[in-house]
Formats: sequence, C-alpha cells, structure tokens
Amino acid sequence: MKTIVILISGRGSNMEALIAARDAGQLPVYIAAVISNRPDAKGLVTAEKAGIATRCLDHKAYADRAAFDAALADCIDVFAPDLVVLAGFMRILTPGFVRQYEGCLLNIHPSLLPAFPGLDTHQRALAEGVRIHGCTVHFVTAELDHGPVIIQAAVPVHADDDETRLAARVLAQEHLIYPQAVRWFVEERICLEDGRVRLSGELHGDDRLVAPALH
Ligand code: GRF
Repeated sequence: MKTIVILISGRGSNMEALIAARDAGQLPVYIAAVISNRPDAKGLVTAEKAGIATRCLDHKAYADRAAFDAALADCIDVFAPDLVVLAGFMRILTPGFVRQYEGCLLNIHPSLLPAFPGLDTHQRALAEGVRIHGCTVHFVTAELDHGPVIIQAAVPVHADDDETRLAARVLAQEHLIYPQAVRWFVEERICLEDGRVRLSGELHGDDRLVAPALH
C-alpha cells in the first residue's frame, strides 16, 4: 500500500475527505502524517482524532522560505511517503522543494486552472461574471497554481451567487475529485506525457476526467 503525507494550513476539509474515502475502502493508502504550517489549524485536531500522526512547523519560526522548506522536507521525509498531498496548504513553495518532490506532489486549487491562479478565486470569478467555475487537482510545478491537470470539476455560477454560496458549491466538488485523483495516483494509473496527464486503464464506476456537476 502506498504511503501519503497531507499538508494543511487550516480547516482541513479536503484532508477529511481523503480520510473518509480511506475509511470507506475507496482509497487504499496509508496516511502516515498530517503536517501543518499553522499551529492553530483546525485540521490538526481532526487528524489527531482520526489517529493520524500530526506535526506542526510554524513557518514564522524560520528565517526565510528556503529554511522553512528545508525543514518541511526533513519532516516529510521521516515518513517516506510515495505522495505528498497539498490540501489547503497556503504556502508558496520554493523551486528547490518542488523539484525534490517532482511527480509526487499534488495540489487542489479552487478554480478551473489556468483561470484564476492565486487567492480569492471565487470573488474573482464572480467579478468576471464567468458562468462556469470549479476546481482542479494538478501536479505541482515551480509556477504557482500551474502544472499538469489531473482532474477538474465544473459548477455553474448562478446569477444570485455570493462568494460563500459559490465556494460551498465548489468545495463539495473538491471533496469528490481529490480522493479520486489520489486513488488514480496510488493505483499507478497516472502518467505524464509531454507535460500532460494521461490516465491509463479503463474508466469505470465513478472514474471521470471531468466531474459532471453542471446543474
Ligand atoms: C480549498 O478550497 C482548497 O482548494 C484551497 O484552500 C481550501 C482549503 O480548504 N487550496 P480545506 O482546508 O481543505 O477545508
């Protein structure tokens, strides 16, 4: 069974979705640890309750980004994961760190990349008046919120949406697509060809490259 480490900064609902999928027998992984860069991350409590090892590395205690990333890598490597899963980990990672985990570092971003990289994605989607919004699971590259796309889910933007309603609609999809992407990874069905993701094997059951949430 593959080993994963999950990195969080706050609420940890995507982490919870991964734990729930594992508990439901839909995600054959060993979750070795949950690591947060914020001591007050709510997700740390959730992980502890689930019996998962937790670590906190407060980024404020490090001189610079490189020093934090080096300590983070040391902390991760103790658990010898096959995959590192960024689940609401709100830190820009140094190119050196990203290179170290190239091909085994995933992120979820609350927009249909390459649209709206960065912060405040829902607010920006509303301001632009887009009709379709969503979320993306992708491999992490040195460029922020960029990198080969594994799966996306699309949701409609309604005329009377506010940021909270739109965020909730997207988040519900995040909780579906992240466990699925991680499952594909641990089943070794994902490969990279010319910087793009190819999924091997038959699509079956819930396997979909785009989650059909346009309703
Ligand atoms: C999610 O919307 C995720 O896409 C983004 O930050 C949020 C984290 O939520 N990167 P949670 O901590 O997983 O609940």
